[in-house]
Amino acid sequence: MRLLIIGSGGREHALAWKLSQSPEIDTLYCAPGNGGIAELAELVDIGPEDVDALAEFAESKDVELTVVGPEVPLAKGIVDVFEKRGLRIFGPTKAAARLESSKVFAKNLMKKYHVPTAHFSVFDDPQAARAYVRQLGAPIVVKADGLCGGKGVIVANTLSEALGAIDLLMEDRIFKQAGERIVIEERLTGEEVSILAITDGTTALPLLPSQDHKRLLDGDRGPNTGGMGAYAPAPRVTEAMTQQVLDEIITPTLKGLANEGTPFKGVLYAGLMLTEDGPRALEYNVRFGDPELQAILPLLASDLVPLLDEAIEGRLATTSLQWKPGSCACVVVASGGYPGEFQIGKEIRGLEALKNREGVLVFHAGTKRDHKRLLSWGGRALNIVGTGSDIDTALRRAYEAVAQVSFEKMQYRKDIGARALKRSTQIAERSGPTSTTTES
Ligand code: AMP
Ligand code: GLY
Repeated sequence: MRLLIIGSGGREHALAWKLSQSPEIDTLYCAPGNGGIAELAELVDIGPEDVDALAEFAESKDVELTVVGPEVPLAKGIVDVFEKRGLRIFGPTKAAARLESSKVFAKNLMKKYHVPTAHFSVFDDPQAARAYVRQLGAPIVVKADGLCGGKGVIVANTLSEALGAIDLLMEDRIFKQAGERIVIEERLTGEEVSILAITDGTTALPLLPSQDHKRLLDGDRGPNTGGMGAYAPAPRVTEAMTQQVLDEIITPTLKGLANEGTPFKGVLYAGLMLTEDGPRALEYNVRFGDPELQAILPLLASDLVPLLDEAIEGRLATTSLQWKPGSCACVVVASGGYPGEFQIGKEIRGLEALKNREGVLVFHAGTKRDHKRLLSWGGRALNIVGTGSDIDTALRRAYEAVAQVSFEKMQYRKDIGARALKRSTQIAERSGPTSTTTES
């Protein structure tokens, strides 16, 4: 089979790594890819938003399956364009992708189909929005309706922060039309987890629960980023909780979308807050999470290709996923200055030594090959992944590997998985010293 992956981040490298292991794949293309994906796939110099050029390419090379990484091509309708040309593609249509591209659409759908989520109101008039936050007071959450690259949500701790957020979005228009309408909602508290499910529109197969680390600095401080690390499975999420999320959040959402005439196929990513009253949906994404997928795929034993096929063909009801035991942790290594202005083109050293190291994988994000050298070429440059029989081992392996890597001004968080480690230590302490696992 000839397969095309769209995107250029760590998520797409993880996809290329997993898909290239499938006996069904003969040729793998990736548009536009990165310095790491280049070792597994033929890179195609077309940007992920150039939907028509991607369709032309897929047609010209008889590509039999296309997998989309990022949200923007999905929001632009890449699935509709491909399907119109008779090309097979894994992902939701433009109409179904509104679940991510419009927070107003997502919130209204959740309300209509009784999906537990934060109470909210929608505004297109800044005056009315200001009056509303003055009435409710802080803390409160202000969200741009449209796609803002993960920067459109402001969790305001004070009234003046909330008013400032309304100004930035609606008066200063820092995200252009994306902030024309806003959602204002109650702030939820609890632990955040992500549950991603592969779905054919009716059946949803959940992947292992995971936890992202969105803030730049240790202790969840500093600005929001695309994600500085992740681990799976998140020990906080029991099987019963995953089932509850399927029953109360994911399945009603899929039924709602089908009922509205926009059935959803692809990956439904539920961003959740585990509140004292149970799981609440914070947001949906309509694609695999980055860096969550880098911590999930190394634990997936099943071949991904038949799964994607079955999702496209509506045949997931008779399928189940097989997982490897153990845990996986991903530490993102970013360029100095990220998520603000950063420099690229720094030589990355130390990766050769990690090539065959037990329990270590390296997924590239912003990197580029320049003859023999590997250069940093983006904000998030590398994902260093550790696997092991437990989260402690996975994290130790990941961090020992990070210590081998260097480039000028690189930065990374030192506390990825700290919450899970604390939990596993607590569990070990509760059950006595014999239950602690060590692995060399
Ligand atoms: P999003 O850009 O929609 O992924 O939201 C970014 C982040 O904002 C989430 O990961 C949460 O940490 C936070 N957030 C969103 N909605 C709420 C809420 N209602 N209460 C508390 N935090 C929230
Ligand atoms: N890790 C968050 C995202 O993929 O949106």
